[in-house]
Amino acid sequence: MADLIRISEVARELGVSPSRLRQLADSGVIPSERSAGGHRLFDPGAVRSALAQLMSTSDFSSRRWSRPDWHRTLELSGLQEDVVWQDALAEALHDRMSQEGRSTAAYAFTEMLNNAIDHSGAEEVQVSVWISRVEARFEVADRGRGALPHLRERLALSDLYDALGELTKGKTTTDPDRHTGEGIFFTSKAVDVFTLESGGIRWTVDNVRRDQAVGASDVTEGTRVRWEMDPSTEIPISEVFSAYTDEDLDFARTRTVVKLFGFGVRFVSRSEAKRLLRGLERFSHVTMDFSGVEEVGQGFVDEIVRVWPRQHPQTVVEPVGMVGPVEFMVRRGLPRRDG
Ligand SMILES: Nc1ncnc2c1ncn2[C@@H]1O[C@H](COP(=O)(O)OP(=O)(O)O)[C@@H](O)[C@H]1O
Ligand SMILES: [Mg+2]
Repeated sequence: MADLIRISEVARELGVSPSRLRQLADSGVIPSERSAGGHRLFDPGAVRSALAQLMSTSDFSSRRWSRPDWHRTLELSGLQEDVVWQDALAEALHDRMSQEGRSTAAYAFTEMLNNAIDHSGAEEVQVSVWISRVEARFEVADRGRGALPHLRERLALSDLYDALGELTKGKTTTDPDRHTGEGIFFTSKAVDVFTLESGGIRWTVDNVRRDQAVGASDVTEGTRVRWEMDPSTEIPISEVFSAYTDEDLDFARTRTVVKLFGFGVRFVSRSEAKRLLRGLERFSHVTMDFSGVEEVGQGFVDEIVRVWPRQHPQTVVEPVGMVGPVEFMVRRGLPRRDG
């Protein structure tokens, strides 16, 4: 984790006025601490994460994501993502990010740019970078067919939320001959805050707060991907890969977030469970995160802990993040061992 920094520095680096920051810190929106001398101190990672939450107030967000330090509009025909990174960005970022930060940024940037090249059907792509001492932000945006509408159509899913659910599982691709469906999954887990917007929906993966959310977006055409990272991160991207791969380095483990698959905090029916479980037999280990879920029904639980595992013995489903009544229902639904 980076060192704690002063309010003036945070304000300067993030382009937020010190008075606004003080207000946000006082109201607890942005976490801060006090130094022995009484100065407010901020952890850049926590500030980035809190600001990402504020993005829903569009006025704040549009100021934050305007005037990039580096921007290009690139024609997609014949474009090569690694060449763009090498020729245009690698050097510019060399002295401004740690080695680990640059590897993660290179992975995320080339994967997201490749998606625009291979999947969007658009003619051009907009790429932007904001870089300061406390944060690095990237955006790759195209006006093509849109990731969620594209997935819904090609995988014959019922709606865009269904498409998003599939995308969050990993190994979801519309072009299995040439692609593996890993890019968005690993990118979303490797950076601090990741958002993908398409079809009027925004999916946020906040790895600082360990939370994911789905909300409304004004992006109705094409796909816009944004991510934020700590430029001085010491965490190697290999850590993210090893969390989701097995000894053979296969992408064998995934983590599904139950609350992304519904509209509320209650999950009752067997059909909801089936939607959640569809395709998870592609993995040998599934961590199923119940955080934010307040109530589950017997049919839902029975499908997850008994019926599906019996049909797919090669996949282990590990429920985590359960509270009170959810934990009770899941424990109760688990098949009893003899004796
Ligand atoms: N910019 C985009 N435009 C249209 N579809 C996209 C875009 N980005 C991603 N997708 C869709 O999301 C899927 C998953 O992307 P990704 O995780 O990078 O896996 P892969 O590229 O290996 O298929 C793609 O197969 C594609 O259908
Ligand atoms: Mg891809």
